[in-house]
Amino acid sequence: MSCPVEHGSGGIVTLDPYVKNLRAEREYLHAAGPVTRVELPDGVTAWAVTRHEAARAALTDPRLVKDIAHWDDFQKGRIPEAWPLMSTIPPTPTNLLGTDGAEHKRLRLLTAKAFSARSVERLRPRVHDLTVELLDGLETGAHEPLDLKNEFAFKLPMSVIGELYGVDAAEHGYLRDMYVKFFSAVTGPEEFLETYATLERYYEGMIADKRANPGEDLTTELLNAGENGDALTDLEVRGTLQVVVAAGHETTVNLLCNAVRALLAHPEQFDLVKEGRVGWDTVVEETLRFDPPTSNMIFRFATEDVELGGQTIRKGEALMTSYGAISRDRDEHGEEPHPDTFDLTREKGRHISFGYGPHVCPGSHLARMEGQIALPLLFERFPDLRLAVADEELEHHPSIVVNSMKELPVVLRP
Ligand code: HEM
Repeated sequence: MSCPVEHGSGGIVTLDPYVKNLRAEREYLHAAGPVTRVELPDGVTAWAVTRHEAARAALTDPRLVKDIAHWDDFQKGRIPEAWPLMSTIPPTPTNLLGTDGAEHKRLRLLTAKAFSARSVERLRPRVHDLTVELLDGLETGAHEPLDLKNEFAFKLPMSVIGELYGVDAAEHGYLRDMYVKFFSAVTGPEEFLETYATLERYYEGMIADKRANPGEDLTTELLNAGENGDALTDLEVRGTLQVVVAAGHETTVNLLCNAVRALLAHPEQFDLVKEGRVGWDTVVEETLRFDPPTSNMIFRFATEDVELGGQTIRKGEALMTSYGAISRDRDEHGEEPHPDTFDLTREKGRHISFGYGPHVCPGSHLARMEGQIALPLLFERFPDLRLAVADEELEHHPSIVVNSMKELPVVLRP
């Protein structure tokens, strides 16, 4: 096939950090085979898994682990100090995302109840009310262009996480501001560490408070988890609280933005929703497939040679999961309708945009619930909502991990 994407040294695909042509990149990666070499920023190379079957095998293979100690290039000093993707690799083995095997299993078991569909269901009325509050706040200026990402999609998941933790509503804004700093400071190691330390202190205080005044919230559930001496340590509780924001905030922001964008760009599909022929749950699922919130996620490192998708991942090499390319897999989603189309009547295939295997996302109930509540409320309130610029003019957030627009300029009441 003719190649619409750049190639690095040795002809391997270069993933574009400015994401100028994501669609072509996904297709090209898909066509390159189930497992292919990719070049990342600063010339760092890794394997990318790009099809369902190979991804399911990789994500359940105990020889592919999160511990960076197994990454040869890192150990041999070949990764630049301020490498932009370093922030996606869990630095400490005290949380779910960063551990494997028995240690990870223990953390999953101890946190399972806190993340269960039942625990999350308690939040349903609050998610509804928080959405309505945010929509009320948008009424003023509804005739002028505004950035829906910043004014709505960014705020909702952070407030919901605040509720989940049992944080006072008055402190949601503080937490949100801290995380804005946290995420935007990734290129400045000092500010990043300072913000991290401030958050750790905040969580220490919160843990002490919840011990004294338990509530019906995730923090209390985590503190009460376990029996017979096997409880989470305070460090592990803090690690879990930190990882929930890292893994659950921006992803949900992207789900909301990508769904709005997909519906506006495909009015004939949106009509099916307005006519009640498909539900909002389908909108959420097809958005997760068509435009997964993370394009490429998270490194695993081979502890020994692993045969995968016709390639050999050598001991010490890195592998990433390319959810964007995986969502284009014809073997899973069929040829018709083409996987590159947003089609709410699609029947074949199930996306794995929440991951697969032992690390599969424990926040999927919550993310789905937020989408299924927030999207209909948004469009019921502002039925004529439209983009303030042409879809082609939207600029992608410059990241090969995060799949979202920099901004989502809309007019709510044109
Ligand atoms: C649309 C929204 C979301 C998407 C697409 C998403 C996606 C993912 C993916 C792909 C993984 C697996 C990472 C891996 O294989 O290493 C993951 C893990 C995780 N997610 Fe989500 N997530 C979302 C929302 C959430 C929410 C709302 C929460 C929490 C409230 C959350 C908490 C977590 C945690 C704690 C993990 C780590 C689990 C582990 O490693 O065992 N996520 N997520």
